[in-house]
Amino acid sequence: MRTTVGIVGGGPAGLLLARLLRRSGIDCVVLESRDRAYVEQRQRAGILEQGAADILRECGAGERMDREGLVHDGIELRFARRSHRIDFPSLTGGRRVMVYAQTEVVKDLIRLHLEDGTPLLFEATATAITGIDADRPVIHFVHEGREKTLTCEYVVGCDGFHGITREAIRGAITTYEHVYPYSWLGILADVPPSCDELIYAHSERGFALHSMRGRTVSRLYLQVPNGSGVDEWPDDRIWDELDARFAIDGDWKLERGPITSKAVLPMRSFVTEPMRHRRVFLAGDAAHIVPPTGAKGLNLALGDVAVLARAFIYLHTTGSSELLDAYSDTRLRRVWRAEHFSYFMTTTLHLGPEQTPFQTRLQLAQLERIVTSRAAAAELAENYTGLPLY
Ligand code: FAD
Ligand code: DHB
Repeated sequence: MRTTVGIVGGGPAGLLLARLLRRSGIDCVVLESRDRAYVEQRQRAGILEQGAADILRECGAGERMDREGLVHDGIELRFARRSHRIDFPSLTGGRRVMVYAQTEVVKDLIRLHLEDGTPLLFEATATAITGIDADRPVIHFVHEGREKTLTCEYVVGCDGFHGITREAIRGAITTYEHVYPYSWLGILADVPPSCDELIYAHSERGFALHSMRGRTVSRLYLQVPNGSGVDEWPDDRIWDELDARFAIDGDWKLERGPITSKAVLPMRSFVTEPMRHRRVFLAGDAAHIVPPTGAKGLNLALGDVAVLARAFIYLHTTGSSELLDAYSDTRLRRVWRAEHFSYFMTTTLHLGPEQTPFQTRLQLAQLERIVTSRAAAAELAENYTGLPLY
């Protein structure tokens, strides 16, 4: 098989890249190791920045999002048993976010690709990339029990943190990493959310987040020690702990319901520099990871491929590789900003295992600053709703 752009990985980054390229007449093939049902059901992110939602709309993938997604104008910060609202539009010149799950973005993009006849191969596992130093890199993959090859002009690794593409260019990149001393226990529950907007809670017992998947399903997270297993967390213990961490002086009640999924997620920051070697590019989690506290992972992935698609389209229409050559630097500026914001949100809201009362006081002073200073609140709101792509 041959193609112009070989895309490894059919997560949100790979699927959106293929959509943007195909709409501009650029030939591509997507290889995805899992089956369709698995990819469509993998529970992950839930928040789209305004810019990410706009990109989906512009490529014709925003119709269901605009019908079923929930537009949110702010978040609630809870600490010291009090609740404070951060209003995004008034702090950012009108910017908002969209609550629409990654699973739904992926379903919408897959449906469009299947309708359009995009070569999107499920259960096609890339095993190696050769010819990276020649003009035509080759992706080796296994599909339907057979070893096959895809010869490409360019390869884009959208194959997530555990993919093979970053490994294939290991000798040409530098990586930066920070692992956090806590994890998240994430649950889905069949109960209407107990809030209109997301709640990020700092408490003496650790961090908690109340999010949602539409009007009838709640998504909640608890900070837990590294190495925790879901077996240690029977349903009642989860609800009791959430109750304790969200508690405020005043009227508020967390509604409980049947828990339908539980998972423990490790937290890591990770950046690859540069995000390209010769004709091989990295995008999304293959290139960088953020801890989830700032809701940036999915948005960074979509931002990467929007910039990369524009660069391929520029090459296709003008013959100039100027934008492709700028891709890594352009994105790394945004990636490091998001890394800083995610680190800031994480370390301001979580309690480290060795945390001293002094450090907790500093966190509370920072949170107090955010809710009493317009400038500090605007800094949070601008980062949360998303900075411009360029
Ligand atoms: P992925 O979604 O990881 O997609 C990569 C794809 O490549 C996968 O479909 C994989 O099957 C495929 N693949 C891998 N190797 C190969 C191979 N060799 N051959 C072919 N295909 C391959 N972000 C938030 O903002 N909020 C959250 O709550 C949140 N929760 C998360 C929970 C988990 C468990 C994880 C892992 C991430 C979470 N994130 C969250 C981050 C967010 O979901 C990611 O940033 C986003 O999925 C990145 O998209 P991607 O397309 O780059 O990578
Ligand atoms: C969700 C996850 C996040 O990490 C976050 O900051 C906000 C929402 C979610 O899964 O809904």
